[in-house]
Amino acid sequence: MKISVIGCGYLGAVHAAAMAELGHEVVGIDVDAKKIELLAAAHPPFFEPGLPEVLASATASGRLRFSSDISDARGSQVHFVAVGTPQTQGSYAADLTFVDAAFESLLPHLSEGDLVVGKSTVPVGTAARLAELIDGSGTGARLAWNPEFLREGFAVKDTMSPDRLVYGVGRVGASAGHLDQRSVDVLNEVYAKAVDDGTPVVVTDYATAELVKVSANAFLATKISFINAMAEIAEVTGADVTQLADAIGYDSRIGRRFLNAGVGFGGGCLPKDIRAFSARADELGRGESVAFLKEVDAINLRRRQRVVDLVIESLDDEPYQKKVAVLGLAFKPDSDDVRDSPALDVAVQLHGRGAFVVASDPEAIENARRLNPQLTFEQDVSTALAGADAVVLVTEWKAYRELDPVALRSVVRTPVIVDGRNCLDADAWRAAGWTYRGLGRP
Ligand code: UGA
Repeated sequence: MKISVIGCGYLGAVHAAAMAELGHEVVGIDVDAKKIELLAAAHPPFFEPGLPEVLASATASGRLRFSSDISDARGSQVHFVAVGTPQTQGSYAADLTFVDAAFESLLPHLSEGDLVVGKSTVPVGTAARLAELIDGSGTGARLAWNPEFLREGFAVKDTMSPDRLVYGVGRVGASAGHLDQRSVDVLNEVYAKAVDDGTPVVVTDYATAELVKVSANAFLATKISFINAMAEIAEVTGADVTQLADAIGYDSRIGRRFLNAGVGFGGGCLPKDIRAFSARADELGRGESVAFLKEVDAINLRRRQRVVDLVIESLDDEPYQKKVAVLGLAFKPDSDDVRDSPALDVAVQLHGRGAFVVASDPEAIENARRLNPQLTFEQDVSTALAGADAVVLVTEWKAYRELDPVALRSVVRTPVIVDGRNCLDADAWRAAGWTYRGLGRP
């Protein structure tokens, strides 16, 4: 099929490459000409394992090209809109400027029978409004909403082999009583491989599809904040939250995944999505239904503070002129994304308390430096740790999980480590002479 993908950020770039790899003829379109130039050369402007390879192979096959001209969408039968919906400045609501601009610019290039497919995470009610816009355009195009559940770090795999597909389609027929089967057929053709492989497909209306996405992220955020709340209780009772998570996680109704207590969640999705959901629920007069999300947010932010406090405590409450090595800047491993990163926040807060912060990360230093040039960055871990008065691990990169406490003991000035991700072997670090402090564990 001929497909256009409008918006080539984390989501769109991966989607365009994956669709071409699956055999479709794809044009990826973005207003940022620099980004397009990089993608066309198979150099994604962000770190995502496996993406350069897929971009290179899809481009070489002749099925993938990139453009900064929206008129290149003309002729595609399916148009994915994958632009960002960041938090609005001065409010918790989602900023729909880019979505609205993408639809406005796409409209003149649509033809009879085209399917526009929204992928961006939007407040419930947006798709119905955009469907009216398309209906009113007289182009004969239709709209579907097909939320995306990919995780950064696993984006290629999640796009090629999703764990479920959700199609939100319009209502047609007498009294608009039926879900539009033509849209479903088109999406089944786009995702033919996943559908043939038996991937569950949920066909539904626009509102449900929009809500599936935000409620999935709200649930994940709630699960993380739940275990972090247990960590807070563990801290005043001497219990160990990691063992608690293991024990409750054996119950398959609960499950162990997303029960890792630590410095909390960040990134370009979970934090802004729960806020946008709260804001939308308020608009709908149902703020109380998701009032708990404000608590989820508050618990999450408290954990960053807890990590900072543990570091300050281990410096005898005198951080001024003490050297603190911060291991990690990305919001999670295998990503260079520092949007709303708890790790970067901890580094900035410690700097603000007068500590001499030297921060390291395998991939995210350049992004962190752009936002916070006041920090000192060092790629090499041993150099970052040299003479440190305290070390704090805030992103659980594999290279950090595998650090050797014995070898590093003589590198630092004071052997204190705050494990903001509870990912180190506390016994091994203590046995090597370190003072080990985890979150919610003795
Ligand atoms: C999240 C969702 O997991 C995806 O399904 C969704 O498609 C995506 O948002 C999106 O809306 O685009 P992502 O932001 O890539 O994906 O990251 P996650 O793997 O969900 O991690 C989010 C944050 O939670 C990270 O900061 C991570 O360190 C933290 N986390 C995760 C914990 O603190 N504890 C855990 O047990 C798990």
